[in-house]
Amino acid sequence: MQLSRLAALVSACVASVGAQSTFSPARPPAIPLAVRSPYLSVWLDGGSDGGDGGYLAGEWPTFWQNQVFGWAGIVRVDGAPYTWMGSLPNTMSVNQTAFEYTATKMSSLDGGHHDVQVYADISAEWVSGDRNAVAQWDYGTADGVSYHRVYRQTQLAFSEVNQQSEWGYWYWATDAVNSMTYQSGADTTVRGQFSQHGKLSNSGDTNYRAISNSWPVFGFASDLGSVGSSSASTLFSIGLTQDEAVQFEGTSTYAPVPSLWKSYFSTDEDALTFFHRDYQRANYLSSGFDSKVSGDSIALAGDNYNVLTSLAARQVFGGTQLCGTEDKMYLFLKEISSDGNVNTVDVIFPAYPFFLYTNPAYLKLVLEPLFENQESGKYPNSYSMHDMGSSYPNATAHADGSDEKMPLEECGNMLIMALAYALKAQDLDYLTAHYDLLNQWTAYLINDALYPANQISTDDFAGSLANQTNLALKGMIGIQAMSVIARETGHTADATNYSSIAKDYIGKWQDLAINKDASPPHTTLSYGDSNSHGLLYNLYADAQLGLGLVPQQVYEMQSTFYPTVANKYGVPLDTRHTLTKSDWESFAAAIASTETRDLIFQNIATWINETPTNLALTDLYDTVSGNYPNPTFIARPVIGGAYAPLLLNS
Ligand SMILES: *[C@@H]1O[C@H](CO)[C@@H](O)[C@H](O)[C@H]1NC(C)=O
Ligand SMILES: *[C@@H]1O[C@H](CO)[C@@H](O)[C@H](O)[C@H]1NC(C)=O
Ligand SMILES: *[C@@H]1O[C@H](CO)[C@@H](O)[C@H](O)[C@H]1NC(C)=O
Ligand SMILES: *[C@@H]1O[C@H](CO)[C@@H](O)[C@H](O)[C@H]1NC(C)=O
Repeated sequence: MQLSRLAALVSACVASVGAQSTFSPARPPAIPLAVRSPYLSVWLDGGSDGGDGGYLAGEWPTFWQNQVFGWAGIVRVDGAPYTWMGSLPNTMSVNQTAFEYTATKMSSLDGGHHDVQVYADISAEWVSGDRNAVAQWDYGTADGVSYHRVYRQTQLAFSEVNQQSEWGYWYWATDAVNSMTYQSGADTTVRGQFSQHGKLSNSGDTNYRAISNSWPVFGFASDLGSVGSSSASTLFSIGLTQDEAVQFEGTSTYAPVPSLWKSYFSTDEDALTFFHRDYQRANYLSSGFDSKVSGDSIALAGDNYNVLTSLAARQVFGGTQLCGTEDKMYLFLKEISSDGNVNTVDVIFPAYPFFLYTNPAYLKLVLEPLFENQESGKYPNSYSMHDMGSSYPNATAHADGSDEKMPLEECGNMLIMALAYALKAQDLDYLTAHYDLLNQWTAYLINDALYPANQISTDDFAGSLANQTNLALKGMIGIQAMSVIARETGHTADATNYSSIAKDYIGKWQDLAINKDASPPHTTLSYGDSNSHGLLYNLYADAQLGLGLVPQQVYEMQSTFYPTVANKYGVPLDTRHTLTKSDWESFAAAIASTETRDLIFQNIATWINETPTNLALTDLYDTVSGNYPNPTFIARPVIGGAYAPLLLNS
């Protein structure tokens, strides 16, 4: 079950503060409200080009793609209603003094006691990306939890409309207590009922209809009574249940795969009530995780770095879905916004520092579908597959071998990630189990890494190019990684052979790839193009895996060079444009000098604070204007690259 909680939010005194929202440590372009999976991904626009500047009241929450998700909150104080969430016409808004992530408790500011009721609803916009689709709903109570269940009347399994899922059941829940009332019905009816009376009618509208036909909403009201200076709160949970979450071509034939929670709970209600009642423990654990991330980040590289890592964590998890059974688990990942591919290798790769830092098992689980499919002989090419399918949630794989061709990139990525996981988890059996396929990919690298053919790298928006310096380096590091894999698994002859090949290549690479006459010297974008340059982010894996393949002076040279080409918001990805990627900047920063690293994160933090855009954190942005370019990348899990420095120091 994918669930998120909203602990609300009651101010008994909203009138006395001339409010100014404060953001700490930075104002995000969009604030994650309920972000848990590719289909539970609800944000509040925070940028300066529209919306309400990151105030919860005064604008509608949106799906990551920016269509409105009706989610409204009203609080009545001494009989007067104020909006605390959403954009409700003709109402006064609560002036928040601060927006604390996931929970803003409020209490009386004037010292007196006030009579308070709190209200929240969701609309049917959550259940389909087609606003003409017919929604259906019901209401129930189980084990002390009351819920509205809302769903698309005609379920379209594994289908999307406007990136939203067209199947499954949404649960909107709160504590089943005497002071709680509920109601479903038209938005104006239900919200009007609460605003006027401070409670709902405990009744359901059974006129199932299109989402946009007299907008049905599903409300709860809670009477908190007299609230004084100690805070009061109400807990709401929101979640989506899909018995089967993806379809997958693995060892067996193409078939649906259950959501992992199905192995632990027999019904939706069981999962929901467990989740809702687990709030204190989950809140304790997630607060601990948040503190660890910010504590580690600040200790390593200061507040600017903490800005990026703090925002990135939820976004990476929000691109994934745990599936399978207790005995055979998978982590499926959606390449959100760029094209919806499933478990794209070069989208997993930038996030690998995040997975290893949080829990190495996640890296294994997200690579599992790729290994399983290709080791079943279902992919015809000698190089690594690019992704598990072109349209999440359908992991159809590519039996015809016609996936997006990024051969050198993906072979290098798979070798690096396989070794990185095995070393971190101390799981050498993993390397033995996958040795043959890893060896096959190494042969590809030996053929192509020294003089890479004209091809695209992961930065496919930049077009294809021959002899890409950074791509060649990835291939060579991949070969050296295989030498370690061979050594660790007792393949001594391979170990020696691959190591000598990698060392031979890296010696030649230094002559081909470096403009030694430049002041200061630096690597070029491609061999011999002396005026070009680029972020040499693939060098990171040499350090992270402890390979010692690339001489230290290459690290120092690049670190000295980057500040000389930095723009206001960052170091450009390469000389083809002024764009950069924050994930690759983080990889470069992780292995740079303290001064260069701090400059990079200072520029990224400035960018996050100043970008006019209103969408979940992008990895691709313009280093001069601070804007999102075309293609616009939103909410992609690659942002986990922010954890490259943390992983190196963990
Ligand atoms: C919120 O602040 C604005 C401007 O400071 C003010 O006009 C409005 O009355 C305030 N709202 C409340 C509920 O106090
Ligand atoms: C996934 O496959 C099903 C058929 O099995 C199809 O109906 C659905 O539209 C596909 N989903 C996407 C996102 O392409
Ligand atoms: C080293 O590996 C390459 C590529 O697989 C192979 O062609 C060559 O024969 C190997 N050399 C030795 C000495 O094993
Ligand atoms: C790659 O670089 C090598 C060495 O400079 C050169 O001989 C070769 O032609 C280049 N390949 C392509 C496709 O440009």
